[in-house]
Amino acid sequence: MERVKKVGIIGAGNVGSTLAYILSATTPYEIVLQDKDKDRARGMLLDMFQASCVGTKFTKLGVIASPKDLKGCDVIVIAAGSPRLPGMSRNDLLFANAKVISEISQNIKENSPEAIVVLITNPLDAMVYTALKETGFNPKQIMGMAGVLDSARMVSFIYEKLQCAPGQIMAPVMGGHGDEMVPLPRFSMVNGVPLTELLSQNEIEEIVRRTRNAGAEIVNCLKKGSAYFAPARAAAEMVRAIMSDSHKILPCSVLLQGEYGYNDVVGGVPVELGIHGIERIVELQLNTEEKTQFERSINSVKSLIEALKNEYF
Ligand code: 2OP
Repeated sequence: MERVKKVGIIGAGNVGSTLAYILSATTPYEIVLQDKDKDRARGMLLDMFQASCVGTKFTKLGVIASPKDLKGCDVIVIAAGSPRLPGMSRNDLLFANAKVISEISQNIKENSPEAIVVLITNPLDAMVYTALKETGFNPKQIMGMAGVLDSARMVSFIYEKLQCAPGQIMAPVMGGHGDEMVPLPRFSMVNGVPLTELLSQNEIEEIVRRTRNAGAEIVNCLKKGSAYFAPARAAAEMVRAIMSDSHKILPCSVLLQGEYGYNDVVGGVPVELGIHGIERIVELQLNTEEKTQFERSINSVKSLIEALKNEYF
């Protein structure tokens, strides 16, 4: 019998538990969940298992009681750390969350050195860098989830304007997952028709602004935390793309080693995902304006990495 694939999720907050639920309801994978509050992880899993008993497909779920339970995970998603609150930028979480990611990275290194690791914790790109340094893993194994989320948000704002059929809009977003992220209208399409043919320059600029501010808009509404349905669903899309060896191209946060002219920095770019993690980084031909925006965004990630280098590495 084929081995059941296993996903470890670290952090049973809103994002981690929603991700666990989505995967448990839509995939055959075994899910193991960890939280610093063990009762919370156990309660979430009991609830999810009972949810599966409403139907006929009982899911295989377990609590990660010790780091050893990470053994055998094919993919590990890190959703631990503090969330963003109103008035905070993602960057304000840098040092507190770097400490959390460092500890988790050590546990993964010792117990699951073959796993593909997907980070969600903010500030995302700097946390991916932290995990790379702390694990020493092959860079193909480690990536961050943000581009799928930011692109979905851009799609939602385009949909608001055009009301076209679902599934027709493609709207890639590159760069760091911060205020300087780079939505790419020139590469955005509605079933092959360039966005620039369908909307005015003003409308496109409004969509770009709203995409950059989308996370903050939700934080301001929720007041006690940040978005979680869309982040969890975006991470589930990446996990499925990896586990099924799909070779789907999705925007992910990865270590750049010469791509786009950058080295030793993490940023969001289109990536082909498969069973080995990052199978290929795709290099788009950016124009001068897009290159300038990408540089600004990457420089912002670099400044966080420099701050971490002084403190940690
Ligand atoms: C977001 O963009 C908090 O980064 C998360 O919603």
